Amino acid sequence: MSLIICNLTVRTGRDHLPMHRISNGEAAVAAPTHAARAIAGPLPKDVMPEQGIGPRAAYRLIDDELSLDGNPTLNLASFVTTWMEPEAQRLAAELVGKNLIDQDEYPQTQELHRRVVSIVARLFNAPAGQEAVGTATIGSSEAIMLAMLAHKRRWQLRRRAEGLDCERPNMVIGADVHTCWEKFARYFEVEARIAPLQEGRYTIGAEQVEPLLDERTIAVAGVLGTTFTGQLDDIGSIAGLLAKVERERGWSIPLHVDAASGGFVLPFSEPELRWDFRLPQVRSINVSNHKFGLVYPGMGTVVFQSADDLPEELVFKISYLGGEMENYSLNFSRPSTQVILQYFNFLALGREGYTRIVRATLETAAALANRLRELEELQLIGDGSRLPVVTARARDPRALSLAEVSARLRERGWIVPAYRLPANAQHIEVLRAVVKESFSLDMAEILARDLAWAISRCRSGGRPAARTRPHC
Ligand SMILES: Cc1ncc(COP(=O)(O)O)c(C=O)c1O
Repeated sequence: MSLIICNLTVRTGRDHLPMHRISNGEAAVAAPTHAARAIAGPLPKDVMPEQGIGPRAAYRLIDDELSLDGNPTLNLASFVTTWMEPEAQRLAAELVGKNLIDQDEYPQTQELHRRVVSIVARLFNAPAGQEAVGTATIGSSEAIMLAMLAHKRRWQLRRRAEGLDCERPNMVIGADVHTCWEKFARYFEVEARIAPLQEGRYTIGAEQVEPLLDERTIAVAGVLGTTFTGQLDDIGSIAGLLAKVERERGWSIPLHVDAASGGFVLPFSEPELRWDFRLPQVRSINVSNHKFGLVYPGMGTVVFQSADDLPEELVFKISYLGGEMENYSLNFSRPSTQVILQYFNFLALGREGYTRIVRATLETAAALANRLRELEELQLIGDGSRLPVVTARARDPRALSLAEVSARLRERGWIVPAYRLPANAQHIEVLRAVVKESFSLDMAEILARDLAWAISRCRSGGRPAARTRPHC
């Protein structure tokens, strides 16, 4: 949700923030279109109209205006699901008025929520005999905030019990993390110690983490599929390092895995890879169900390896909606739709269905990567073999601006972002395509041809500025 500033005079000078400035609305009117059948006069845009125009005309106006948006099927910028089965659409339409928080009123919805969290925890190999806990969230951002708040609080409790101060907590992350990690650091006052990248290495492992650890480190993050290149942090080596640090220094530092993208890919494509609760140091994991969990936007999950990882005082007990219920979230009211749609996918697809879709998506990504390899102007960075994300840089950035290539592709409707990698690789501009199940092999072929065309148009052309952050 964008932050809305309701003050006509506000000037922050920070135009890169997605903030909406409110106009006074007097001059802004929607000119009647074919909805003139229902609209007698001009309609203000930025203040509530005195008289409503009725549902039919309102629908017409809004639907027409939204046709200016990009086409979700051609949106290779986003990891987020843009297509679900008709039965899922039907369920979504039926569920749209149900608030997930109303546990007493909708106990069966809550039961399906419980099953979803349980299935996710087992997918991540939560050990038998321990009570894993978790909750659905709005996305990975909320899931990461909740997990890190728990690690911060546990660190504080431990320090207090030892008679030590709780000042200056820090967390160790790579420069390859998503913005939400920096958001957590700033919103919840934890120092972010950031391991930089370098040319040719766009992920982190134990070597980069070790020098940043100390007794004030509340947690370390490893990413299972980075937003920037789709590559995987070396989570096994970080877990090994944390075990060694605990043995040698006595610091018990939890590892959180940000499996926003990889959490619904690796368990099906490389089930033997140990990145999850099979590693005792991994105490919490987040996943974006709305990415490769194949659910429409608005769904993530956080799971803790054991109930002991989540301090009780962070879980609120509320009784004013009927019987007593527990609540651990940054929000309160939220739709139940996506949770139920996730359960729908688990039933409709099963392990076999997810495996089939993941394999097919990886094959399409590999085919697209192969076609990109044939373009001499590009050099592949991410070949889509672990996550279906294909990333390339220009072989000669002075001769080819990828931001311009991206803009050219937009003329054909494709949304393929160009952006710069984070510190210390910010001199590298990349183009990234996220391959989803709705993107066929044939579409990959068409995109590759359009890309060759766009490159031929852009060679030595003008160069618009690249974004500094990719879409997610
Ligand atoms: C690695 C990673 N972590 C976290 C996020 C944030 O996820 P969400 O959009 O579900 O809040 C993203 C989004 O792309 C991501 O790629």
